[in-house]
Amino acid sequence: MTTNHLVTFLPDNRSIGVRPGTTLLDASRRARVNIRTRCGGVAGCLMCKVYVSKEQASSLQAPTLAETRKLGPLLEAGTRLSCQARVKGDVTVTIPEDPLKAVIRKKLAEQEEDDFF
Ligand code: FES
Repeated sequence: MTTNHLVTFLPDNRSIGVRPGTTLLDASRRARVNIRTRCGGVAGCLMCKVYVSKEQASSLQAPTLAETRKLGPLLEAGTRLSCQARVKGDVTVTIPEDPLKAVIRKKLAEQEEDDFF
């Protein structure tokens, strides 16, 4: 019998139990957490980047050759491609803010500041 591993996605704080070897992208879909992609999960677009702490890095399988080539030194900083990274233990993953949402949030904050004065 295969033991499921708990994958938690931040900042939504949604968790899902998945079988060992499941990609983080597949886990996110099952947990109904949105990770942007464009290449269909073949390490081509780099849009599916997520972050994993050093303490939890061993909860994922070693990076694939494609992931290593694409991310290079970012791997050392805890960046992984969710379409390539496979689960092998309980892990917490942080999804970066959508760049478009970040721009809108910043503009709204500036506008709010202007309205205040
Ligand atoms: S989905 Fe495109 S690189 Fe992961």
